[in-house]
Amino acid sequence: MSSESKVEKLKALRKEAQLGGGQERIDKQHKAGKLTARERIDLLLDKDSFEEIGAFVKHRSTDFGLDKQTYLGDGVVTGFGKIDGRPVYVFSQDFTVFGGSLSETHAEKICKIMDLAVKNGVPVIGLNDSGGARIQEGVASLGGYAEVFWRNSMASGVIPQISAVMGPCAGGAVYSPAITDFIFMVKKTSFMFVTGPNVVKTVTHEEVSSEDLGGASAHSTKSGVAHFASENDAHCLQQIRALMSYLPLNCEEKPPRFDSAEPDAAKAEALDTIVPDNPNKPYDIKEVIEGVLDKNSFYEVHEHYADNIVVGFARLDGRSVGVVANQPLSLAGCLDNDASVKGARFVRFCDAFNIPLVVFEDVPGFLPGTDQEWGGIIKHGAKLLYAFCEATVPKVTVITRKAYGGAYDVMNSKHIRADYNVAWPSAEIAVMGTKGAVEIIFRREIASAPDGEVKQKELEAYYEELFANPYRAANRGFIDDVILPSETRQKLIKVMETIQNKVDNVPRKKHDNLPL
Ligand code: HXC
Repeated sequence: MSSESKVEKLKALRKEAQLGGGQERIDKQHKAGKLTARERIDLLLDKDSFEEIGAFVKHRSTDFGLDKQTYLGDGVVTGFGKIDGRPVYVFSQDFTVFGGSLSETHAEKICKIMDLAVKNGVPVIGLNDSGGARIQEGVASLGGYAEVFWRNSMASGVIPQISAVMGPCAGGAVYSPAITDFIFMVKKTSFMFVTGPNVVKTVTHEEVSSEDLGGASAHSTKSGVAHFASENDAHCLQQIRALMSYLPLNCEEKPPRFDSAEPDAAKAEALDTIVPDNPNKPYDIKEVIEGVLDKNSFYEVHEHYADNIVVGFARLDGRSVGVVANQPLSLAGCLDNDASVKGARFVRFCDAFNIPLVVFEDVPGFLPGTDQEWGGIIKHGAKLLYAFCEATVPKVTVITRKAYGGAYDVMNSKHIRADYNVAWPSAEIAVMGTKGAVEIIFRREIASAPDGEVKQKELEAYYEELFANPYRAANRGFIDDVILPSETRQKLIKVMETIQNKVDNVPRKKHDNLPL
């Protein structure tokens, strides 16, 4: 063969690989409102930055006549490229080849880039669109999944792992995204479930559609499995790019630094009057976040799940921070099971990847009730407490209003090694709210008083004077300062500058035993 025809052969093979399962199936993919595996990579990565690895890989199966049905790449496009000039490894399942199903070789391709990603300290982004285990390959495919799961676990906390579910993701296949750090799902075109609607109908007699059972909406609002629900493929890929801007490449690095951006002056000034005089009246903690952090930098995670706690990334003077904030607008900001787990997972991610924590606290306590107790508020609340305790990144807390009971301890208190704890003048730091406290400790006085109601009001005023303020805690040094709300940004910038290289040691151990 002449060198000219060898070149032509390579060109022809490349063209064939580009087409995946062929034009007809590509058209079908588009008709379903989905982009192809390669189109997704193009939108995810910086222009012309993608380098493919394994374009010529074919499966090795012979059963069911598969030897006569091979496609270059075997249903997954793998390689590396850049997002905003920083490297990432990517795999993108190609639904046009055997429905993106995972064969032994398909799994090997994913494993190859995961191994490279860990070795080189570079994040992995997985774009999932797959009918699951390649049925014709049986246990070889299941083994392939397990190889991926094992690598997901080993890479956890070493490099950021991001999953986008952009089509089917069913059965055991869900456990790879589930181990990764963040899951994006595309509305209407993606679903995730362990058992699909047909099995559900047989076993529990429930009739439910794929979308209702495991669509983006179900998982971003009900189960909390998905952190983000995107409008379409392009939106999803753009959201992933934005997320990456807050993250370091690996656990040994700090996140990238950007230019500082002052918040809107009106939002910053509004802070001094944002907390209502009436302690039972809510306000939006996101207004506080926007008044303190860099302008337009807040990137909320789990926006529509457990909204009594708000978590997300932001920048403070151009530096990435993880924000955890109680939301008085929902359940009065109480911590419940879902909020505790949501907060704990986020805190642990930030700690693993050197992202300092900024906590805004307004918490009346843990949510009471049989639902919560039987649902495990003891073990779930413990997760959030544990996560803050073990975090060794710089940690600061701003108490805006209520810091009651056990929740005071849990929400990054001084006692669990936060670095800088301040309170606004509106803060109330106590075992519980005034009314409840007075009814317990002065029960006899109130009962024996000629006018119980008047006595109660008197005692409430007395208790409030003593405890419904930040000064008792400040007297003891449990908070470092009482500050004006409008001073918060400048104080946090100064303290973060000082503590950014904090070194904190934990006792030597094999690994922790997080309460699960
Ligand atoms: C091999 C598969 C496949 C699979 C789909 N295809 N799933 N090939 N193994 N698992 C092929 C189809 O034969 C078809 O080939 C093409 O992909 C597109 O599939 P369609 O059914 O035409 O597409 P659509 O109507 O969009 O339906 C998509 C689907 C459905 C919902 C994913 O195909 C489906 O239910 N597939 C089976 C899913 C499943 O049960 N997987 C095993 C789950 S258990 P042609 O040649 O026509 O294009 C599992 C265990 C993992 O995954 C274990 C880990 C521990």
